[in-house]
Amino acid sequence: MGEFIKVAEIAEIPPGTAKRVEVSGHTIALFNIGGQVYAIDDTCTHEQASLSEGTVYGEIVACPRHGARFHVPTGRVLSLPAVRSVAIYPVKVEGGAVYVAPAPQLSGAKPHRP
Ligand code: FES
Repeated sequence: MGEFIKVAEIAEIPPGTAKRVEVSGHTIALFNIGGQVYAIDDTCTHEQASLSEGTVYGEIVACPRHGARFHVPTGRVLSLPAVRSVAIYPVKVEGGAVYVAPAPQLSGAKPHRP
Protein backbone atom coordinates (compact mmCIF):
# COMPACT_ATOMS: atom_id res chain seq x y z
CA MET A 1 0.00 0.00 0.00
CA GLY A 2 2.93 2.33 0.55
CA GLU A 3 3.81 4.77 3.21
CA PHE A 4 1.32 7.30 4.55
CA ILE A 5 2.37 10.92 4.10
CA LYS A 6 0.91 13.86 5.99
CA VAL A 7 -0.91 16.13 3.52
CA ALA A 8 -3.16 18.42 5.58
CA GLU A 9 -4.69 19.23 8.92
CA ILE A 10 -8.25 18.03 9.32
CA ALA A 11 -9.21 21.59 10.36
CA GLU A 12 -8.41 22.72 6.79
CA ILE A 13 -11.17 20.51 5.38
CA PRO A 14 -14.42 21.03 7.26
CA PRO A 15 -17.27 18.64 6.38
CA GLY A 16 -18.65 19.38 2.92
CA THR A 17 -15.42 20.88 1.60
CA ALA A 18 -12.46 19.72 -0.47
CA LYS A 19 -8.78 20.54 -0.77
CA ARG A 20 -6.23 19.80 -3.48
CA VAL A 21 -2.84 18.47 -2.42
CA GLU A 22 0.30 17.23 -4.16
CA VAL A 23 1.73 13.94 -2.94
CA SER A 24 4.68 12.15 -4.55
CA GLY A 25 3.80 13.45 -8.01
CA HIS A 26 0.06 12.80 -7.66
CA THR A 27 -2.45 15.64 -7.59
CA ILE A 28 -5.09 14.49 -5.15
CA ALA A 29 -8.43 15.92 -4.05
CA LEU A 30 -9.32 15.41 -0.39
CA PHE A 31 -13.03 15.49 0.43
CA ASN A 32 -14.59 15.61 3.88
CA ILE A 33 -18.01 14.02 3.59
CA GLY A 34 -19.84 13.97 6.88
CA GLY A 35 -16.59 13.80 8.83
CA GLN A 36 -15.11 10.99 6.73
CA VAL A 37 -12.11 11.99 4.60
CA TYR A 38 -11.61 10.51 1.13
CA ALA A 39 -8.82 11.00 -1.40
CA ILE A 40 -9.29 10.70 -5.17
CA ASP A 41 -7.37 11.82 -8.23
CA ASP A 42 -8.01 15.53 -8.58
CA THR A 43 -7.97 15.56 -12.37
CA CYS A 44 -11.23 14.70 -14.09
CA THR A 45 -10.89 11.73 -16.47
CA HIS A 46 -12.67 13.69 -19.22
CA GLU A 47 -10.40 16.69 -19.69
CA GLN A 48 -8.28 18.92 -17.48
CA ALA A 49 -10.38 20.08 -14.57
CA SER A 50 -9.85 20.01 -10.84
CA LEU A 51 -12.46 17.90 -9.04
CA SER A 52 -11.58 19.61 -5.75
CA GLU A 53 -13.27 22.68 -7.28
CA GLY A 54 -16.39 20.71 -8.16
CA THR A 55 -19.78 20.78 -6.49
CA VAL A 56 -20.40 18.16 -3.81
CA TYR A 57 -23.83 16.55 -3.34
CA GLY A 58 -23.72 13.99 -0.57
CA GLU A 59 -21.10 11.45 -1.68
CA ILE A 60 -21.01 12.75 -5.26
CA VAL A 61 -18.82 15.42 -6.83
CA ALA A 62 -19.74 17.09 -10.10
CA CYS A 63 -16.84 18.23 -12.28
CA PRO A 64 -16.70 22.03 -12.44
CA ARG A 65 -16.04 21.99 -16.19
CA HIS A 66 -18.66 19.81 -17.91
CA GLY A 67 -20.49 18.29 -14.96
CA ALA A 68 -19.45 14.62 -15.05
CA ARG A 69 -20.28 13.10 -11.68
CA PHE A 70 -18.09 10.79 -9.60
CA HIS A 71 -18.83 8.79 -6.45
CA VAL A 72 -16.16 10.06 -4.06
CA PRO A 73 -15.78 6.99 -1.78
CA THR A 74 -15.15 4.63 -4.73
CA GLY A 75 -14.00 7.00 -7.50
CA ARG A 76 -16.62 5.47 -9.76
CA VAL A 77 -17.77 7.58 -12.70
CA LEU A 78 -21.54 8.08 -12.66
CA SER A 79 -22.28 10.25 -15.67
CA LEU A 80 -21.02 11.55 -18.97
CA PRO A 81 -19.04 13.14 -20.44
CA ALA A 82 -16.42 11.26 -18.39
CA VAL A 83 -16.38 7.49 -18.98
CA ARG A 84 -13.48 6.41 -16.76
CA SER A 85 -13.44 6.27 -12.99
CA VAL A 86 -10.86 8.18 -11.00
CA ALA A 87 -8.32 6.46 -8.76
CA ILE A 88 -8.79 6.51 -5.02
CA TYR A 89 -6.09 6.59 -2.35
CA PRO A 90 -5.89 5.16 1.18
CA VAL A 91 -6.46 7.86 3.82
CA LYS A 92 -6.08 7.98 7.56
CA VAL A 93 -6.69 10.74 10.07
CA GLU A 94 -4.61 10.76 13.23
CA GLY A 95 -4.07 13.45 15.81
CA GLY A 96 -5.85 16.05 13.70
CA ALA A 97 -3.69 15.37 10.65
CA VAL A 98 -4.69 13.78 7.35
CA TYR A 99 -2.35 11.20 5.80
CA VAL A 100 -2.53 9.74 2.30
CA ALA A 101 -0.69 6.74 0.86
CA PRO A 102 0.31 7.76 -2.67
CA ALA A 103 -0.69 4.37 -4.09
CA PRO A 104 -3.62 4.90 -6.45
CA GLN A 105 -6.26 2.17 -6.59
CA LEU A 106 -9.04 1.77 -9.08
CA SER A 107 -12.36 0.83 -7.60
CA GLY A 108 -12.84 -2.11 -9.94
CA ALA A 109 -16.40 -0.97 -10.40
CA LYS A 110 -17.74 -1.03 -13.92
CA PRO A 111 -17.53 2.32 -15.68
CA HIS A 112 -20.63 4.12 -16.72
CA ARG A 113 -22.08 2.83 -19.99
CA PRO A 114 -24.21 5.28 -21.89
S1 FES B 1 -13.42 18.06 -17.69
FE1 FES B 1 -14.66 17.05 -16.22
S2 FES B 1 -16.48 16.65 -17.28
FE2 FES B 1 -15.22 17.56 -18.78
